Amino acid sequence: MAASKEEFLWGAASAAYQVEGAWDADGKGLSKWDVYTNRYHGTEAVIGKQETGNVAINAYSRDQYLKDIAMMREAGLNAYRFSLSWPRILPEGVGRVNQPGLDYYNRLVDDLIASDIKPVVTLYHWDFPWVLHEKGGFHNRDVIGWFREYAGVVFGAFGDRVDKFITMNEPYVDVFFMDLVADNIVGRRPPFWFTAEQYGRQVPALHNLFLASAAAVSDYRAAGHTGMIGIAIPLSPTIPADPNNPADVAAARTWEAFHDRWSLDAPTRGSYADEVLATLTKLNPRFSVSDADLALLQASRVDFLGVNFYAPSYVRHSADRPLGAEPGINPDELKAHNGPVRPEALHRLLLRIRDEYDNLPIFITENGAGFGDRDEVMVDGVVKDPLRTDYIARHIDAVLKARSEGADVRGYFAWCPFDNFEWFRGYETRFGLIHVDFATQKRTPKQSLFAYRDIVAANA
Ligand code: FCB
Repeated sequence: MAASKEEFLWGAASAAYQVEGAWDADGKGLSKWDVYTNRYHGTEAVIGKQETGNVAINAYSRDQYLKDIAMMREAGLNAYRFSLSWPRILPEGVGRVNQPGLDYYNRLVDDLIASDIKPVVTLYHWDFPWVLHEKGGFHNRDVIGWFREYAGVVFGAFGDRVDKFITMNEPYVDVFFMDLVADNIVGRRPPFWFTAEQYGRQVPALHNLFLASAAAVSDYRAAGHTGMIGIAIPLSPTIPADPNNPADVAAARTWEAFHDRWSLDAPTRGSYADEVLATLTKLNPRFSVSDADLALLQASRVDFLGVNFYAPSYVRHSADRPLGAEPGINPDELKAHNGPVRPEALHRLLLRIRDEYDNLPIFITENGAGFGDRDEVMVDGVVKDPLRTDYIARHIDAVLKARSEGADVRGYFAWCPFDNFEWFRGYETRFGLIHVDFATQKRTPKQSLFAYRDIVAANA
């Protein structure tokens, strides 16, 4: 489709489990996150408090989301990226369709369009159906068929009004971070310490996920839909902690192959580079990629790349870490939750995609920041968040600069419109442009919302 003639999308992004609540309403099935929070008490191990997405920010309520849409509209946004809860639509993951679940999303899509906000729909943002998780989840190759069935229901129901679909959100983080944290919590181990053995076990799971995504891309096209379909991947360009130390340089290169290059190449080129395969087989010597798998990936390459960018990754060599690489170092004095603030790394990344990935169309599907309480100060009915405000402004500058240099960037989605349930970090970690009082559901705009509104207006 002639997407390049479409207007630039200025949006904000959310995920079903983080906002909807209504975890057991109207026939919804359980997702793994319902279990991670309610049964495993996942947040307790991380923040010392039992919290869940059972209510979240109440976005399942139409009264609530209509007010929320109105706030986004007032800020001048023309797009909203949200995800569908797979078990709300298919309570057992496959088979029976739950009509009230479909009805909810149908109305939401119509309400957004009526407000001139383009719906951009993520099919899967981590809330995997629990019954299928118990059958192995992404470890079971049947996931390809399970996901195709679900995707078929979604395309059939919304493909007439939604023309931008994202198959999966941040596959790497789902498989190599969230599920491993859950695994550690169940095993009563420190939540964030991962072993090479754990990583090795996850390798085929992420491969199967990319196959499932690719199969859904093929099905979308085969069904005659003419919109664009892509995937949202987490990109975090690596920087050696000490550029003069060859061990750090080598560790950074390995980490880049594992964390970024794998996720970039599989869905866009349909390939596994030698350095990616070498890294993966080091973790899991039995892992291999068949010609049939490569053929599927190559035949089903995405129309666009969703780039989720928060921060680059400083990496140092560490012998007791898997792959000898320790990421997650943050030299900044004012630390943001998701890593060092380096908008220039986003600019470089976008030019790299321009140059090395055939100038594939890009949407920045997530970008945002939280700095803790010091940057969430309520003054006269507005929350002052100068650090977030500065972060967003500088990252948008980087995006627009790359665009003016030829990178095919077609939209920017801030993470996130409203404070919400931040996975294992619960409600304490705020990323929103709009403050939410979780006890009363009261919304209060932040300084960053007004700044974003002004940027959007200036670039309209
Ligand atoms: C990303 C996730 C998103 C949110 C932000 C802060 O990794 O995709 O759901 O948690 O981080």
